[in-house]
Amino acid sequence: MTSSTTPAAKKRILSGAKPTADSLHLGNYIGAVRNWVDMQAEYDAVFFIPDLHAITVDFDPTELAKRTRIVAAQYIAAGIDPDKSIFFVQSHVPEHAQLAWALNCITGFGEASRMTQFKDKTQKSGADAATLGLFAYPTLMAADILLYQTDLVPVGEDQRQHLELTRNLAQRFNTRFGATFTVPEATIVKERAKIYDLQNPSAKMSKTGESPNGTIQLLEDPKIAAKRIKSAVTDAGTEIRFDPEEKPGVSNLLTIYSSLTGKSVVELESEYQGKMYGHLKVDLADVVVDFVTPLRDRTHELMADPAELDRLLAHGAERAREIASVTLAQVYERMGFLPSFSLAGVR
Ligand code: TYM
Repeated sequence: MTSSTTPAAKKRILSGAKPTADSLHLGNYIGAVRNWVDMQAEYDAVFFIPDLHAITVDFDPTELAKRTRIVAAQYIAAGIDPDKSIFFVQSHVPEHAQLAWALNCITGFGEASRMTQFKDKTQKSGADAATLGLFAYPTLMAADILLYQTDLVPVGEDQRQHLELTRNLAQRFNTRFGATFTVPEATIVKERAKIYDLQNPSAKMSKTGESPNGTIQLLEDPKIAAKRIKSAVTDAGTEIRFDPEEKPGVSNLLTIYSSLTGKSVVELESEYQGKMYGHLKVDLADVVVDFVTPLRDRTHELMADPAELDRLLAHGAERAREIASVTLAQVYERMGFLPSFSLAGVR
């Protein structure tokens, strides 16, 4: 007797990083991209470059195109394999904007107003100076995720609230219009969910950080990266101990060290027992240089052949549309939009 078992379908993961700077930073890598690379063998993976999200804040068209290619090259240099994973640019798949509109129409104004990212980003200039696009940022992100019937979304801690909204919208749509969307879950690796600014360890490391010295840009000269680690703000006292409350600066350095070497924080604490902050910084600077140098070289190699990058992205967009178009058609049908028939078929 023969028995046949159908292998269980792989779960789908999806994530992306915005092209809003000349390089991804170390926080993006440790909090997100690295987890994507680890997960792509086991999951059915979709990684994209959210360029539509990049225009929700001030932007320059020439820069946007350049930065989009840089992020594409950095994904691949970091280990995203376009043969294994679906890899594309968001604006190449129009279904993202189309589904976002449908979701906007089932999202409460008050609900969107409670999104902390919008509040943070408009804190200085006031909400009146912000665009409608920035306000609708979370529903576009929900569309990104729901279009692909995503199970898991590997992101850093700062994206948790967006994931909650996405889940709420999926459930709301399913209840009102019939089961359509998979309700996704966030995958946040606790130990590396948030890398802090090296100069201000109470703020997250970000592409638009107040002081450039607080951020390690993956494409910058490794010597600059080393300098930034060595001049990182540390805390009162001398003990090298992981204690985010009392010692946020040192704890951040230990998190980075542990993430890049695979050594646990406990191991590092005992390795550096009785040593000074300076020792830790000098060693970590070497670790960071060894990490960023090959990544940077590979990114430059990939960027030297933009036609090949564009080819990979075009292929990825085709694969993405095969999935996205099916979901959008279901959504439109369930919401009561009249089918649009091609005249070619009627004649
Ligand atoms: P973005 O471009 O700000 O960041 C990309 C990823 O990096 C993580 N991250 C961090 N992790 C740890 N420490 C930090 N200092 C740090 N800074 C950033 C972010 O959590 C993120 O995972 N809204 C998203 C982009 C997006 C998206 C999506 C993500 C658009 N659509 C759909 C997932 C699914 C964003 O702004 O990421």
